[in-house]
Amino acid sequence: SFQVLAMQYTTLLLLAIGVTAAGSVKWTAQNAAGKTCLIFSANSINAKLNILNPDNVTETINFAINETQKVTGECNGKYGGFVANTLEVLFFPDGKLPEHATDGQPWRLFMWFTLNPSATTSFMLADYILETAPGSLFNSTTQNFTKSTSAELEFQATSTNGFKCSTSGLALSDDSTIDLKDTRVIAGAFLDQADFPETQTFEQCQLDSRTSDIVPIVVGACLAGLVVVVLVAYLVGRARAKRQGYASV
Ligand SMILES: *[C@@H]1O[C@H](CO)[C@@H](O)[C@H](O)[C@H]1NC(C)=O
Ligand SMILES: *[C@@H]1O[C@H](CO)[C@@H](O)[C@H](O)[C@H]1NC(C)=O
Ligand SMILES: *[C@@H]1O[C@H](CO)[C@@H](O)[C@H](O)[C@H]1NC(C)=O
Ligand SMILES: *[C@@H]1O[C@H](CO)[C@@H](O)[C@H](O)[C@H]1NC(C)=O
Repeated sequence: SFQVLAMQYTTLLLLAIGVTAAGSVKWTAQNAAGKTCLIFSANSINAKLNILNPDNVTETINFAINETQKVTGECNGKYGGFVANTLEVLFFPDGKLPEHATDGQPWRLFMWFTLNPSATTSFMLADYILETAPGSLFNSTTQNFTKSTSAELEFQATSTNGFKCSTSGLALSDDSTIDLKDTRVIAGAFLDQADFPETQTFEQCQLDSRTSDIVPIVVGACLAGLVVVVLVAYLVGRARAKRQGYASV
């Protein structure tokens, strides 16, 4: 079982090293002084939308947000009476540019991270909207998918921490979703560079913190099991040796 465990860890390690560039995104916002207040990064973003086609029939479409046309970030936005760091991301689904500029306009993802230093959270993703447009890839229409009323949002952190999550989602209206892999985000920051500092601490989503509790428990249990097996084998061996010893006398 130790070998299996070691193999799993090696696989995880290789995955962690291998999964980087292709399709990953990093969006940031800078203030007038050039300081970075907001970083949002993810290794992959996949959306599933129940969208109305031009004949008013609902179609389910799946696509990746893996290439960005333009990002407009703001450090001093407003949302619901709070100061907010905001993002407006222009993209084409699956990164497929229309053949002619007139064949389609980019789709837009809006995000509002509200800041509230006096409360227990220092930032939280308060709202988001995904705006679609007609295009050549799908028979899509212009439609705003808004934050689902049942959305449970974990994208938040306390103090100067960032937030990270290996698997998370943004629930949208009409049973639609945006799935995110390996998301890392910080808002309300004041960074010299548009990248997470090496010393940045992150709060984990519930799923990951449960997993990070489970891994040491499993490893511990495996080691304890190994100790018991060795001990039993030793005792059995000794008992046998003793009996053989008596027999040979
Ligand atoms: C984006 O996703 C689409 C569909 O999966 C794929 O065809 C395309 O190559 C991807 N682009 C990048 C830059 O990963
Ligand atoms: C689609 O529905 C909207 C509003 O429900 C209506 O205004 C429009 O004419 C409909 N379009 C078609 C092609 O049926
Ligand atoms: C869009 O609709 C047209 C007409 O109904 C159809 O011919 C075409 O295959 C559809 N395209 C896609 C991508 O679904
Ligand atoms: C979608 O929401 C954005 C942000 O609030 C807004 O600017 C845009 O006009 C909306 N689009 C539609 C089609 O309602």
